[in-house]
Amino acid sequence: MTDLATFVAGLPKAELHLHIEGTLEPELAFTIAERNAIDLPYSSVDELRAAYRFSNLQQFLDVYYACARVLVESRDFYDLTWAYLVRARDDNVRHAEIFFDPETHTARGVAFETMVEGICQALDDAHDKLGLTSRLILCFLRHLDEANAFETLEAAMPHRDRIVGVGLDSGERGNPPSKFARVFKRAREAGFVPVAHAGEEGPAEYVREALEVLKVRRIDHGNRALDDPGLIDELVHRQIPLTVCPLSNLKLCVVDEMASHPLKRMLDLGLCVTVNSDDPAYFGGYINDNYVAVAEALGLGKDDVVRLARNSIEASLLDVADKERLIGLLERAVSEPPP
Ligand code: ADE
Ligand code: ZN
Repeated sequence: MTDLATFVAGLPKAELHLHIEGTLEPELAFTIAERNAIDLPYSSVDELRAAYRFSNLQQFLDVYYACARVLVESRDFYDLTWAYLVRARDDNVRHAEIFFDPETHTARGVAFETMVEGICQALDDAHDKLGLTSRLILCFLRHLDEANAFETLEAAMPHRDRIVGVGLDSGERGNPPSKFARVFKRAREAGFVPVAHAGEEGPAEYVREALEVLKVRRIDHGNRALDDPGLIDELVHRQIPLTVCPLSNLKLCVVDEMASHPLKRMLDLGLCVTVNSDDPAYFGGYINDNYVAVAEALGLGKDDVVRLARNSIEASLLDVADKERLIGLLERAVSEPPP
């Protein structure tokens, strides 16, 4: 490991932008497909991995939704979630906020309870066996209509004790946040914390809508906010966290090369920016890989890297006492690095 990679690995951190379906590694996809007698449109692990070449978000989503079809039983959701949590703990992730896409599964006849049961059992086991805390956030698929989202919200109501937030993902272009204004209003009234993907491929205006119309607490991605100086001021002033995903941005051609990633600019502007892995099975790296790739390409210093880890804890949905505990661990890791 390089000095930087060792330093990153030593920092306790939180992951705040992670789609559980995006952690489905090809090997596990084939294992689960076989036991559920489902045909994947790829003949082997190698052929599937070779399909991971994307020039935009939609090309990725086509593969991601095709692979998600293997997930049927509660055990499948358990295995998927557990595999991610073990991998994340290896990267010194102490707290994970995890998205899932209910409509991807309910559309195939999978019961909402089946997903929640499998995912939550793994989250509970991770708490007990790995000391890793977590929160679960459902995402509405923005390419579907408002009625689908309302149905999903209704299905989530009995699980309010386990699902703490609502988000918005899938194809961004042509699907502005305002399409879901009424659903998010209902969700907020029911106590769900609102977040939304915005400004990944869509314009700065979508980031503004997510803030003003959906009243989100965090923006997932947010890269295009940099096109609007007034919006930057507001994000800085309100310290709205941006959950940025460098390897995802590279793989989906949101940036041409890592050296032109805007993360350093975001930090220097005073934005509350965090680093996350998004869909690590598809984008070539988990959270530490993201920290290292972007830090190396942009020449970030250790103080920047510590700032990113600190932001991840502060921007989480943990309560104050748990945040303080993790910040304490982070400070100790920085002042007393392992020999
Ligand atoms: N679903 C999974 N990953 C996503 C991303 N990066 N953007 C939008 N929707 C997604
Ligand atoms: Zn995402």
